[in-house]
Amino acid sequence: MSIRNLRPNYRGEGEEEARRQREIIERLKLREDKPKTYYIATMGCQMNAHDSEKLIGIMEEIGASPAAESEADIVIYNTCCVRENAEQKVYGRLGYLKTFKKNRPNMKIALCGCMMQEDVVIEKLKKSYPEVDLIFGTYNIYKFPELLESLLDGSGRIIDIWRAQEEIVEDLPSIRKHSFKASVNIMYGCNNFCTYCIVPYVRGRERSREPDNILAEVRALAESGVKEIQLLGQNVNSYGRGLKNEITFAQLLEMVNEVEGIERIRFISSHPKDLSQELIDAMGRLDKVCPQFHLPLQSGSDRLLKLMNRHYTKAQFLDEVRRLKEAVPDVSITTDIIVGFPGETREDFLETLDVVRQVRFDGAFTFIYSKREGTPAARMEQVDPEEAKANFDELLKLLEEIGRENNKHWVGKRLKVLAEEVSKNDAAVLSGRTEHNHLVHFKADASLIGEMVWVTITDSTAFYLLGEMEKAEEV
Ligand code: SAH
Ligand code: SF4
Ligand code: F3S
Repeated sequence: MSIRNLRPNYRGEGEEEARRQREIIERLKLREDKPKTYYIATMGCQMNAHDSEKLIGIMEEIGASPAAESEADIVIYNTCCVRENAEQKVYGRLGYLKTFKKNRPNMKIALCGCMMQEDVVIEKLKKSYPEVDLIFGTYNIYKFPELLESLLDGSGRIIDIWRAQEEIVEDLPSIRKHSFKASVNIMYGCNNFCTYCIVPYVRGRERSREPDNILAEVRALAESGVKEIQLLGQNVNSYGRGLKNEITFAQLLEMVNEVEGIERIRFISSHPKDLSQELIDAMGRLDKVCPQFHLPLQSGSDRLLKLMNRHYTKAQFLDEVRRLKEAVPDVSITTDIIVGFPGETREDFLETLDVVRQVRFDGAFTFIYSKREGTPAARMEQVDPEEAKANFDELLKLLEEIGRENNKHWVGKRLKVLAEEVSKNDAAVLSGRTEHNHLVHFKADASLIGEMVWVTITDSTAFYLLGEMEKAEEV
């Protein structure tokens, strides 16, 4: 299901520029040679997905409709470069797209997103991928209407990559996947320079949005029927630094908690080095803030944490988890873990397993370290990939065991679930999320999508819960 984001009735930052782009959208609407169909592949994180919502919004606004990748007039890849295999996939898919373009020379191919901020990528695309018509980056995504217009005007292949953000431009069309939940950027970029990570190089320095603009957007979303808000930032715990009137993330949560119509607030991601007691207290106190916390560990070894430039120790991480569990009963804690960081020994890895056992995470995104050129870790001594893979498998097994045990806790309980979509495996079953962000499958009619329903949990696995819906009215 796709829903048009009623143009928020607020004026955000970059008003002048947004108006210019909207004028171009109006011109594009009237053009005979505009793309009538589009396909957008979202290849990265929630921030990348949020950017895709803007691209989809612009395409719909000019009157184009979605189509299969092989048939669309314009194919856009919104890329990610956090790990190397994500990049390899893009090159692979371009090879496959080329075959379609041979038969349909008018088809346009556009690439954008984080990967385009890497010089080596641009060089390679320039040299070996002439079929790509338009390339832009993370800082100028709001210029998409203008770039598209230039492309249609026949100015040849366009490559427009900026080195930094000139201004934050808001208030352009955007189409969300769901009518009842939405993501809101609260900040852009990252200042942390974890030594393995490329994000600060491709997303630039940390910039917080003004709280008034965030609140206006949340209010507009609530008015259009949104019940659940996800606040996005690479490190939301450092939100507010550098604003005219500095505020903390906990204070922002407090304000969002006041917005009428919003029932659930979630956020990602939190850096353990900046997790304040003020935020932990706010989590415990604010009724709409969901009892879940994504706290990326990366490694349990103090030695590696130092090499990763993470600025916390295993003991500090465990202490934060203890305080979170104390303040928020039954809090669900999820994490990110990297296996095979340069120099990782078996002892280092055992420290990670130890944290996993102590915290008993409710879920984890696990990654085998991927070397990113230009980052400090790329120059460190790399580990044996086979050893890393064996450790990785061991970690997955432990996480699964813990997940299975943790989920049993919910069997027999009556939980409020936001029904989100029809299950992929059974049309009579809906999938939804509990406050704790557990995935639940239950028999119900698709008309209940977007509603809060009560579900009694009847069974569980390592990855999801099964339940029976009690009643279908608003709860
Ligand atoms: N800012 C967020 C994470 C963004 S990237 C945070 O710090 O929580 C998401 C995850 O990708 C990271 O948490 C990390 O676990 C993983 N990651 C980043 N760079 C990586 C690399 N070079 N190799 C493997 N995993 C990586
Ligand atoms: Fe990357 Fe670290 Fe920034 Fe997260 S906090 S985006 S892992 S540099
Ligand atoms: Fe996200 Fe990938 Fe960019 S994780 S910020 S899309 S590099």
